[in-house]
Order: sequence, then C-alpha cells, then structure tokens
Amino acid sequence: MSRIGEHPILEYTKGKRVSFTFDGKVIQGYEGESIASALHAAGIRKLHESEVKRRPRGLFCAIGNCSSCLCRVDGRENVRICIEPLREGMRVESQNSKAVLRPADPAGSIRQEETIQTDVLVIGGGPAGLNAAIESASHGLKVVMLDRNSLLGGQLNKQTHKFFGSEKAKAGTRGFVIAQELEEKLAGYGSVDVQKETTALGYFKDGTVMAESKGRVCSYRAKATIIATGASERTLIFPGNDLPGIYGAGAVQTLMNIDGIMPGQTAVMVGGGNIGLIVSYQLLQAGVAVAAVVEAAPHFGGYQVHANKLRRAGVPILTGHTVKYAFGGDSLEGVVITALDEHFNPVPGTEQTIKADILCMAVGLSPMTEMFFQAGCDMKFIPQLGGYVPRIDEYHRTSVPGLYAAGDAGGVEEATSAQLTGRIAALCAARDLGAADDFDREFADLQSQLSELRAGPLGQKILSGLDRMKDEGGVSYGKF
Ligand SMILES: Cc1cc2nc3c(=O)[nH]c(=O)nc-3n(C[C@H](O)[C@H](O)[C@H](O)COP(=O)(O)OP(=O)(O)OC[C@H]3O[C@@H](n4cnc5c(N)ncnc54)[C@H](O)[C@@H]3O)c2cc1C
Ligand code: FES
Repeated sequence: MSRIGEHPILEYTKGKRVSFTFDGKVIQGYEGESIASALHAAGIRKLHESEVKRRPRGLFCAIGNCSSCLCRVDGRENVRICIEPLREGMRVESQNSKAVLRPADPAGSIRQEETIQTDVLVIGGGPAGLNAAIESASHGLKVVMLDRNSLLGGQLNKQTHKFFGSEKAKAGTRGFVIAQELEEKLAGYGSVDVQKETTALGYFKDGTVMAESKGRVCSYRAKATIIATGASERTLIFPGNDLPGIYGAGAVQTLMNIDGIMPGQTAVMVGGGNIGLIVSYQLLQAGVAVAAVVEAAPHFGGYQVHANKLRRAGVPILTGHTVKYAFGGDSLEGVVITALDEHFNPVPGTEQTIKADILCMAVGLSPMTEMFFQAGCDMKFIPQLGGYVPRIDEYHRTSVPGLYAAGDAGGVEEATSAQLTGRIAALCAARDLGAADDFDREFADLQSQLSELRAGPLGQKILSGLDRMKDEGGVSYGKF
C-alpha cells in the first residue's frame, strides 16, 4: 500500500508529519488523518485477531459503524481507529478481542453532570443532519449537532463525482464540495453548536440523549431531536469474508478519496448497483486495477453511464456471478467466484480464481436504527427502505413525541433525498415548536423536490417502500 501521488480530481492537503507506535513499532503518518489510514499507508492491514480462532481482522466500514477496527489508544480501550484522528506520539495497540473495562476515573474526567439544553438536537452530521441543522437555525432555533467523526459530511465527503438531478439539488457539483458548502453555510449561523468527535450512545425515555466525547460523557435535552445517523454497509456470507482487505465500498472511498491512500493493487467489486459501479471507477482513478465487477442478479442495477465508463476501461461486469470464497494469510490474496443459475444457485464447474488484494462489498446498506429502538419507536421491517425503519408520518415524526427521522436512518435512499428529508424533518420540528411561519409554502416546495427526485427509475423502490409504510399506519396518515 502507498499514498496516491497524482489524482485526476483531488488534491490532498496533509497535516504535519507525525510519529506514532503500533504494537511498539514506530510508524509515520500525517496529523489529522485517521489512525487506520496511517496504518494502511504503512502497509498494515491486520489490526487485531479474533478471540477464538485467532483470525486476522481489519478495517471494514471506515466511518465508525462496524467496530471491526477497535484498538487501544494511549491506554483507552475500544477506540474506533478509523475515525480517530492521528496525533504525535500516540500509542496504538491491538486489543486482540481482550478489551479491559477500567473503573471510572476518580478524577471525574469521564462524567459531565451538566445537561446541555437546546431547542433542536441533531444526531449525525451527514447531508441529512447538516440540512436539518441549517433548516432549524434558519427558523431562529438554538441547535446542537453531534457527529462522531472529526469531519462533517458523512458519506458525502467521499463522493468525488458530480451529482445528477436539478440545480436546486446541486446537480453538477461534486459530493465532497456539497459537504464543504453545507458546513460553511452552517457556520454562518451563530445559534448552532457543532460537537464533532461526539458519539450519541443512548436515547432515554425522558428524551435525554447521552453521548461520549474523548472519554467524557455528556447529556443533552432538546425540545425536538432529529436522528440522522445514516446507514451501515452490509457484507455477504462466504468462507474468508473476515479477511483484512475485504472492505465496504465506503471504506475504500475513505482511504482513496479522503486520505489519499491506495487501498491495494487489484480489486474485485461485488455489486453492480450505482455504488459498486461508481467506486470501481474511482478505484481506477486512484491507480488501482479492477479485475471484475461481480453481480449476482442477471442485470446490473446502476446507471448505464457508469457501466459504460468501466467497460471502456476494460473492466468486465460479470452479472449472474457471486463470490464463493476468499483466501489469504494475514490479508486477502484472492477470491474464487462462481456463476449462478436462475435460482441463484452456484453452477458447478464455473469457478474462477482472481488474484486480488481488495474485495470491495457494495451489496446494500442497512439504516442505523439503534437510537430509534432505544427510544421505543414503533419500528417496521420494510425491505425496500433497507430493513427495520421507524414508522414515520409525512412530517418525518416517529411515534415518540419530539423525535424525528431524517436521511438514510429513516430509510436508505441517496444523498440528495437525505438533504431534502433533513430539511423536511427540521421544518416540521420547527412548525411543531411554533417557529415556522411560512410552513405550508416551504413544505410544499420541499415535498415537490422530493417527488421529482423519486420520479426517476431508482425512486420506484422507495415509493413502494413508502406505500408499505402507509399500509403500516405511517406516511400519509399524518398525526399519530
Ligand atoms: C459507499 C457509498 C457510496 C455512495 N455513493 C453515492 C452517490 O454516488 N450518490 C448518492 O446520491 N448517494 C450515494 N451514497 C448514498 C449517500 O451517501 C447517502 O444516502 C447519504 O450520505 C445519506 O445521508 P445521511 O446524512 O442520512 O447519512 P450519512 O451520510 O451516512 O451520515 C451519517 C452521519 O452520522 C454520524 N453518526 C452516525 N451515528 C452516530 C452517532 N451515534 N453519534 C454521532 N454521530 C453519528 C456519522 O459519523 C455520519 O457523519 C453512497 C453511500 C455509500 C455508503
Ligand atoms: S468502525 Fe472502524 S472500520 Fe468500522
């Protein structure tokens, strides 16, 4: 692994060069990049071993969702090193599944007794959360926004291609530029307190939200809380699927597009939807060979324009294929793929071995719904929206008073709709708090933008999911 030199779109600005140790070995990296990225740049993918079988384990999501990168940092257990910014002199150690819970710090530094009061609490600073915070502030409300990452923007930060859609939806602008613009806009509102590197841990019955930031526990009490925690990437079940070098597509994007690191030399992409096709092209832009895109369905699901770019670059898109198993020692060395029949059963004798050090999974996302479950929201299983989602009404209110859902957390869609649902949830919260004077006009405008977006071919799945939600007593049923 190495750092990307020239990139056709991106320029990487780096912090100062720093030294740190990993299991006693001195390693160099750049201040502010994640510890996991610095380790990858130094060729270290194995971060720890599983407890029973001592299998090597590495990074999977690179956005703090999956826990596969937990390490001990300066004596602190269970640090997600994929979102922990690197600093000079850090001591990073493999936990090897043996985290030790330490007693509470007698100096009291892990607890903050004071509860922070606000009008609106936004949990998650991706496109949905950023828009929710901006919308709330534009109605004169006091806002606190939490994000566990040091970088706001969520998945948008990694998206280097120009967005499709209408001008209002920022068509023609690259995803990471949209994230920067939203953050700048948010900074223009003095009534917003942005708390980065702060993870919301729990939503209590009285509406209190507990969060952790750098070893401190904080609590928040808001008149309205908007949950915009996004979605986590799925994987597939096959032998060897835990080897370091098998990543969610978003993790590969983080390494390449945020930290400028080559995730490896040769990749196999699993999934022919838009994410799989776009990330495959981004791998080529970073100088990584893409041996194949493997898609189980008889047709790929992404836009033709993305597929054409890959085919022109000589990347085969193998529909009706899946991964049989992955192999390697301390990290991935290759995969065996197989053809599938019309019932998705492997066809004997069609196996092919592909040497690869990256297997990238773009096989769907599941909404991050833990906080809704904790809050006691009425939850529904709606496959078209990604799995379990909170039942919401047309104002994005959950069944728990004062609790709203926005973005992928309320149903997996895409970045532009996440922005719109963030604004809708915040507008409706402002109305419920008596702060939205021109509610009807703005609500109708946002709803019409969302309908226009969903009128496209990929919107059909979402619309059928929303129909199912309607049948379950949500969406157009208005009030609970
Ligand atoms: C690999 C990949 C590629 C994609 N490519 C495209 C694309 O090309 N075009 C497109 O339109 N869409 C794309 N999408 C989808 C799009 O990025 C998402 O739909 C969109 O980012 C959802 O926005 P969100 O704000 O709901 O969630 P996210 O962008 O996921 O943001 C959620 C935020 O919440 C924070 N968070 C989560 N849990 C907590 C917690 N407990 N406490 C504090 N903070 C928390 C996270 O750190 C994150 O910043 C892609 C998604 C992925 C995974
Ligand atoms: S939490 Fe770090 S890789 Fe998923």
